Amino acid sequence: MLKNLLYRSVYDEMSSDILDNILNKARKNNKEKNITGVLFVGSGFFMQTLEGEEEDIQEIFDKIKLDIRHNNVVIIGFSDLKKRRFENWSMACINTEIISDFYLKKVEKFSSYTEDDNIEGEMCDLFLDIVNNKM
Ligand SMILES: Cc1cc2nc3c(=O)[nH]c(=O)nc-3n(C[C@H](O)[C@H](O)[C@H](O)COP(=O)(O)O)c2cc1C
Repeated sequence: MLKNLLYRSVYDEMSSDILDNILNKARKNNKEKNITGVLFVGSGFFMQTLEGEEEDIQEIFDKIKLDIRHNNVVIIGFSDLKKRRFENWSMACINTEIISDFYLKKVEKFSSYTEDDNIEGEMCDLFLDIVNNKM
């Protein structure tokens, strides 16, 4: 079953080296597992969506959760997916260099949400708009 996972986490330290390192590894591993998605990084937090077969997402997420480059990993949603949004990206990245203040504020507002808020789909659609339009 195709699934979509969305989580958020916080980081203390960020640099282009740290981010490159995460993305290079993510893109290599995700390609092998046919995992697609997007990673938002900025304002002290990550939000990431992972699309793929349930057991592949689980396997990668088990490693991500233990990664010391972030803390307080909270799942915002983990639901069935009919069609991938990020089929062309083994891991797209949205950082504060490509995102406008307007959209950054929107993402920041979402960053405190939890699974109870049912905003997974809305949030992932917003990320797709940002990736497509570099807004
Ligand atoms: C915010 C964040 C996002 C990550 N995303 C991915 C990912 O999408 N895929 C992945 O394989 N590793 C990702 N990683 C790296 C994993 O935590 C871990 O270092 C990596 O999967 C280890 O791969 P290896 O077992 O091949 O050495 C991420 C790490 C962080 C901090």
